[in-house]
Amino acid sequence: SLKGIILVGGPSVGTRFRPLSMDCPKPLFPIAGQPMIYHHVSALAKLPGMKEILVVGFFENSVFDRFLTEVQMEYPDVPIRYLREYQALGTGGGLFHFRDQIARGAEQFFVLNADIACSFPLAGMLQTHAKHGGVATLLGMRVDRSVASKFGCVVADPETQEVLHFVEKPESFLSDMISCGIYLFNRGIIDVMRDAIQERQSRLMDEGEGETDDLRGGAERFQLEQDVLSRLTSAKKLYAHICTAGKDFWMQIKTGSSVIPANRMYLQHFLHAAPRKLSNAPRPSMSEIMTATSPVTPHSPQDPTTAYVIQPAYIHPTAVLHPTAKLGPNVSIGPRVLLGRGVRVRDAILLDSVEVKNDSCILNSVVGWDSKIGSWCRVEGAPGESTALNATLKGYKIPSATILGKDVTVADEIAIRNCIVLPHKDIKTSQHNEILM
Ligand code: GTP
Repeated sequence: SLKGIILVGGPSVGTRFRPLSMDCPKPLFPIAGQPMIYHHVSALAKLPGMKEILVVGFFENSVFDRFLTEVQMEYPDVPIRYLREYQALGTGGGLFHFRDQIARGAEQFFVLNADIACSFPLAGMLQTHAKHGGVATLLGMRVDRSVASKFGCVVADPETQEVLHFVEKPESFLSDMISCGIYLFNRGIIDVMRDAIQERQSRLMDEGEGETDDLRGGAERFQLEQDVLSRLTSAKKLYAHICTAGKDFWMQIKTGSSVIPANRMYLQHFLHAAPRKLSNAPRPSMSEIMTATSPVTPHSPQDPTTAYVIQPAYIHPTAVLHPTAKLGPNVSIGPRVLLGRGVRVRDAILLDSVEVKNDSCILNSVVGWDSKIGSWCRVEGAPGESTALNATLKGYKIPSATILGKDVTVADEIAIRNCIVLPHKDIKTSQHNEILM
């Protein structure tokens, strides 16, 4: 039988995700209408033989309460729990710390990084794993050579898929195949981890660092990638399952701007794989909501009074869209969003209770919770454009998207292009390539 582990990190991780992480823990940020790790849970819970899903990190316990309750209702047969590390133990340390709970009653377990968007070809990984008889299978993907060295790089035997070399973020080019941060392990991996820890401890002792924090408080802290995968490679026990080009997708979600392509990838994927996850259901009209005395129910599918939607799009059933608004493709609209007359939204995420007044246009942007955009505004990101600037501004990389934090107000007739706006700002003049603190 199987288990699934999702590594979510903690509040100190994810600073590149500001300002969005200021008002929502990164693993719960909504992408394609669902919290980031909902997509992981949903892929794991569907596997035959899945016994339990464990979310491992160092956030407060209460952070995941509501998420776990909701997702548990959808998958009542697979228990889902949060296990809290007493401090950041690294990607391997947490697994080792909770090894008894992880291995109890499970022969194999998946480990998934939280900060990725993926088609999760887990069934294929299980098949590959069964064939080679190693201890571990990683998910590999080919990427452009120019970016490969930012990831864990893998050289695999083309016949057997045995991993011959694994180097985390190599200094020079090693391979265009990278590790996606998705692994399938036999329970034997726990012994490999134990060996890795012991070796590391005796090395630290030899180096005379016996009294450093690293050995006392941090003795349990270690990384799966550096400490365990290379060890497995030397032992010839690591194999790769490679993503199918054109069918699978994968990307990392590190910066705030990366949620826009992640949202697009999931929505495009659902178009074929799970159309029921997209919202085709029409919503009530603005006048009905305004005049209703009791909750308004969605219209029948033929109703002409709802906005023009180009799929794929996710629209929460409580959003209110003017019939002349035009949305999509690649748009996620959160609960209680209000879009006025003639509003245009494309490649964007609008979070809960955002209000956009008439004739405004939102492209390649994330609009934070409760923000208010006036009429005739243009909120826009130009993907690729700002890379020419290749600069950092006040510690932020200049974004190729516009990101408005929570509760931002934009006055009428304002243009905002490639800006990051921190929560609670009032914007009264047009802005380009700025970080607005
Ligand atoms: P960088 O952020 O550029 O270093 O990239 P990376 O992909 O190597 O990130 P990292 O290995 O830090 O994180 C991979 C996943 O593990 C992410 O989903 C993190 O949230 C999670 N993670 C990182 N550190 C810890 C930790 O100490 N404990 C737990 N439980 N999860 C962690």
